[in-house]
Amino acid sequence: MRILLLGAGGREHAFAWKISQSPLCEKLFIAPGNAGTSQHGINLNFGVNDFDAIKKCCIDEKIDLVLVGPEEPLVKGITDFLIGDPQLNDLDIIGPSKNGAQLEGSKAFAKAFMKKYQVPTAAYGEFTLENYRDGVDYINKHGLPVVLKADGLAAGKGVVICENYIEALAEFELMIQRAKFGDASKKVVIEEFLQGIELSVFVLTDGKNYVLLPEAKDYKRVGEEDTGPNTGGMGAVSPVPFADEVFLKNVEEKVIKPTIEGLKAEGLEYRGFIFFGLIKVGDDPYVIEYNCRMGDPETEVVIPRLKNDFLEMLVAASRQELHKIKIEEDQRFACTVMAVSGGYPGDYEKGYVIHGIDKVDTSQSILFHAGTASQDEKTITNGGRVLCITSFGNSIFEAVETSKEALQHISFTGMSYRRDIGYEFE
Ligand code: AMP
Ligand code: GLY
Repeated sequence: MRILLLGAGGREHAFAWKISQSPLCEKLFIAPGNAGTSQHGINLNFGVNDFDAIKKCCIDEKIDLVLVGPEEPLVKGITDFLIGDPQLNDLDIIGPSKNGAQLEGSKAFAKAFMKKYQVPTAAYGEFTLENYRDGVDYINKHGLPVVLKADGLAAGKGVVICENYIEALAEFELMIQRAKFGDASKKVVIEEFLQGIELSVFVLTDGKNYVLLPEAKDYKRVGEEDTGPNTGGMGAVSPVPFADEVFLKNVEEKVIKPTIEGLKAEGLEYRGFIFFGLIKVGDDPYVIEYNCRMGDPETEVVIPRLKNDFLEMLVAASRQELHKIKIEEDQRFACTVMAVSGGYPGDYEKGYVIHGIDKVDTSQSILFHAGTASQDEKTITNGGRVLCITSFGNSIFEAVETSKEALQHISFTGMSYRRDIGYEFE
C-alpha cells in the first residue's frame, strides 16, 4: 500500500516508525514531516491544511490510504474533501468527517452530545454575546473554582480554571466581548471543576466497532511536580497504574460505548481515533474532553506498546472491519521524556544544532523527533517540543531512568526536560 501521513510532530514520527514496519507498507510519504519521519519515508513539502496539495499528492503518488495526524485539517473537513472527490474513488482515509471532528472542534457540541448520550461529564452552561448577562449570572451563582472553555480550537490554550469570581468574570468578558481567542471564544462553555486524577484513553473506531488501545498519562505542565504553565505535553507513561481492569471496564461501559452509539445515532461518519481526556473522580470516569486524533506525546508510548500490525488496523478501520482485530499489548511499562527548547511554552529560538542523536542506545530506547529539521547533513531544532525518548521497563521508574540516561547524550542550546515523569508512581 501507498500511504500519506499528515503531520510533523512526535506523534507522526511514532506513526511513521510503526507503519514502516508493516509488510503491507509499500511506500510512505509524510507531509510535511520532520527529520525523524524522513528515516521511514519521503517527506513532502506541503502543510496539513493545504487541501489542494494533499489531493494532488494522492493522485500523483497513487495513494491508497491517508492518515491524518493533527486535529486542524479534520475540523476543517479534509476527510469530506477527499472522500467527495470523484478522482479519489478508492482512497481510504483515517480521520473523522468534519461533523464527527466537532467532538473536538466545538466544546459546546461535545457537551451537548455527552448530555444526550449520558456520557458522564461536568455540569455546564453555554453562552454567547446574545445571552452574555445569563453567563454573568451563571458564574456568580457557580461554586469555585469554575472552568471557562472557549468553544473552538485555541491551540490548547482555551481552557481557564478560575479560582475567584473577579478572575472568572474578567476572563468571560475577554473571551466573549474582546474575542481573546478570536472566533473560537465567540461561544464559551462554563463548567464545574472536577477534582481527580487525569488519564487518557484511546480507541480506533470504524464508526460501528472499536478497539481499545493502551491508555496513557500525559504530563502537561512545563515544571517538575506539575508546576508552571501548560505545554503540549512534556512526557507520558503507559500503562497507568491506577487504571486497573475494573476502572477500564467502567470506562468502556460508561464512556466509550455510549460515545460510539451516539456517533451512530447522530449519523456522524467516523473512521479514526477518539482520544478521551478523562478524570477519575473517586472510582468513576468523567470526560473532560474529546479529541478527534491521537495524543502527542501519548502516541509515543501507546504505539510502541502495540504489538499489532498498525497498518492492518488502519485498513480494517477504513473498511469497517475492526471487529476482526484483536489488540495485543506489550505488558511492560513505557515512558517518554520530551526535550524542549529554552523558553518553551513561551517564545523560543529555532535552528540550533542537535548533538548526540547517534549516541542513543537504540537497543534500549527509541528516539522520536518532534520539532526537528534537517539542514546541511545536520539535525536542527525547529519547534518548542524538539524530540522525545521512549523506553521500556519493568516499572515506570526503570523506563524513565533509561530515557533520562539516553537524554544525557543529547544536547542543543537551551535544551531542558522534566526529570520527574511518572513521579507520583514511585
Ligand atoms: P483541555 O484543553 O480541554 O484539555 O483542558 C486543559 C486542562 O484543563 C485539562 O487537562 C484539565 O487539567 C483541566 N480541566 C479541563 N476541564 C476541567 C474540569 N471540568 N475540571 C477540572 N479540570 C479541568
Ligand atoms: N497531549 C495532549 C494532547 O495531545 O492533546
